[in-house]
Amino acid sequence: MPDNSIYSDRMLSLGLARVSEQAAIAAAKLIGSGDEKAADQAAVDAMRTQLNKLDIRGRVVIGEGERDEAPMLYIGEEVGTGNGPEVDIALDPLEGTTLCAKDMPNSLAVIAMGPRGSMLYAPDTYMEKLAIGPGYPTDIVTFDMTPSERVVALAKAKKCAPDGITVCVLERPRHEETIRELREAGARISLITDGDVAGIIHCAESEKTGIDMYMGAGGAPEGVLAAAALKCMGGQMYGQLIFRNDDEKRRAAKTGITDLNKIYSLHQLVTDDVIFAATGVTNGSVVSGARRVAGALETETILMRSRTGSVRRLFYRQRNQ
Ligand code: FBP
Repeated sequence: MPDNSIYSDRMLSLGLARVSEQAAIAAAKLIGSGDEKAADQAAVDAMRTQLNKLDIRGRVVIGEGERDEAPMLYIGEEVGTGNGPEVDIALDPLEGTTLCAKDMPNSLAVIAMGPRGSMLYAPDTYMEKLAIGPGYPTDIVTFDMTPSERVVALAKAKKCAPDGITVCVLERPRHEETIRELREAGARISLITDGDVAGIIHCAESEKTGIDMYMGAGGAPEGVLAAAALKCMGGQMYGQLIFRNDDEKRRAAKTGITDLNKIYSLHQLVTDDVIFAATGVTNGSVVSGARRVAGALETETILMRSRTGSVRRLFYRQRNQ
């Protein structure tokens, strides 16, 4: 009998696509409903059911929250059949709950898997993020630079003027100063209302999306998921946790973080090879959204493995049951 306790990203990857597909299909039934909670819950239920069918000894390391806050897919929850390799799982069954509830672009069902210890156990705090796509010299933009210095450096490397650089930023009052400085430097800004996992992935497909750089503060769990995607697609990323109070520092201590000021590089956020799957809920530039066709539902999933750098786009049709 084959030994199925050995971690094989090749064998597990299709299973992971099934997990994100089912979460997206469940959430898609609530697109435009205005009910964020119901959409999220539907995605969580479906993702958990599918995960528990996989032959893994899985542990959720990035999930729906701490155990006392989230009844399902909480941090530390064990998932899978209990037969198979020990793996860590980072997930967001519905990334961009508001986007789904309001039928706006780029809500995704997202999941990443790797060997134990492969992803930072990020607490549920904010993270300052900086990301660019592949093909640039290492550290061409860094946390030490001001937003305008980053634009100038990236424009030089891209051999264009600053107005040839488009920076994706979450539209939040906390980013007003950064946006002003970026515009003064001549960069174009692509503002998103939510969904910075997609925002960061966009940097890795800049020819298609027009986005060259991502900048700003968003959820730390989303930061690790985005890093898992970039580890597969290539690119550079930095993240630094932001703590607004003692409770957030306590959350970090619980996940084993001792250096509260550490700036994590991409390969410190995700230290080993991972598989990443994201299925579109609403339409977006990474993948199309789930859509009803006669008698069926269709989805598109991006499925990637960092070990090989392979990127697949899977089209799936599920007959109405
Ligand atoms: P949800 O899916 O939990 O609604 O998160 C959406 C999101 O936009 C993330 O993509 C982002 O990292 C975070 O919220 C930003 O947080 P905030 O809305 O507090 O600025």
